[in-house]
Amino acid sequence: MDFPKTLSPIVEAVKKNKKVCFFLGAGVSTSCGIPDFRSPKTGLYANLKKLNLPYPEAVFDIDYFREKPDAFYTLAHELYPGNFLPSKFHFLLKLFQDKRLLKRVYTQNIDTLERLAGVEDDYIVEAHGSFANNHCIDCHEEMSSEELKKHVFNREVNNGIPTCSKCKGFVKPDIVFFGENLPARFFSQWDEDCEDVDIAIVAGSSLTVYPFAGLPSEVGKNSIRLLVNREAVGDFKSRKRKNDILALEDCDYVAETLADLLGWKLDLDKLIKA
Ligand code: OAD
Repeated sequence: MDFPKTLSPIVEAVKKNKKVCFFLGAGVSTSCGIPDFRSPKTGLYANLKKLNLPYPEAVFDIDYFREKPDAFYTLAHELYPGNFLPSKFHFLLKLFQDKRLLKRVYTQNIDTLERLAGVEDDYIVEAHGSFANNHCIDCHEEMSSEELKKHVFNREVNNGIPTCSKCKGFVKPDIVFFGENLPARFFSQWDEDCEDVDIAIVAGSSLTVYPFAGLPSEVGKNSIRLLVNREAVGDFKSRKRKNDILALEDCDYVAETLADLLGWKLDLDKLIKA
């Protein structure tokens, strides 16, 4: 069957005003120039030799950060939001919002590109936090983003590592590190949403990090689930449901195709060019 046809159950449901809940990972931002984590050659974890980590995920581990914050700050210098523009996929989210057909966007990404594309705060659940706020890891004193940025981009002073004005502890953006809790809103919003997901679109994630990776398996058996990813992953691989749709394609290509099938191509082009 040709690929666009596989999307018709989604198109039909959207045309009946069913809303879409998105579950996003790093793959929706690779076309923006931000590497994902686990792609074998290009992913972040395959390219961290210079940081001399005991294992790749240590760069986002809270215990390792307490010992050696410089690894994270070397990376923060490269990944700090501000240098990247949203992808077609991000603009598709905004289009669903504009058409009042967006239920929610659960994202693991810390790049804030959903917001930059124009998706409003209420719709976004940043499951792994973001660079928007920063706190001391010891006394929890806040540091403004302007102040933190000054440190990140001036690596000659203290290796770019910001310390607390009160207790001298290390300051870190409120990104959820391994060993830390997810934001309370992740759990409360999901409690509210999970019973009522008509269409679930999972895009650009290897579905390896829990609890986020478990969300698609919690949507009702009658929901239509679509995976947009280079390969089959998680629940879509191990416990595929009868009405699941697998689009093993590039995220932006699927965004473009879906917009076209919904008659939204011009709207999407307009958003991208604005
Ligand atoms: P991963 O790097 O684990 O997975 C990204 C997935 O997207 C892979 O399956 C890729 O094949 C796929 N992919 C990449 N580019 C794509 C494209 N243009 N089109 C389609 N598919 C594409 O990233 P995440 O699942 O987001 O957590 O990783 C989850 C968490 O692991 C991150 O939030 C981060 C990390 O450790 C923390 O730091 C707490």
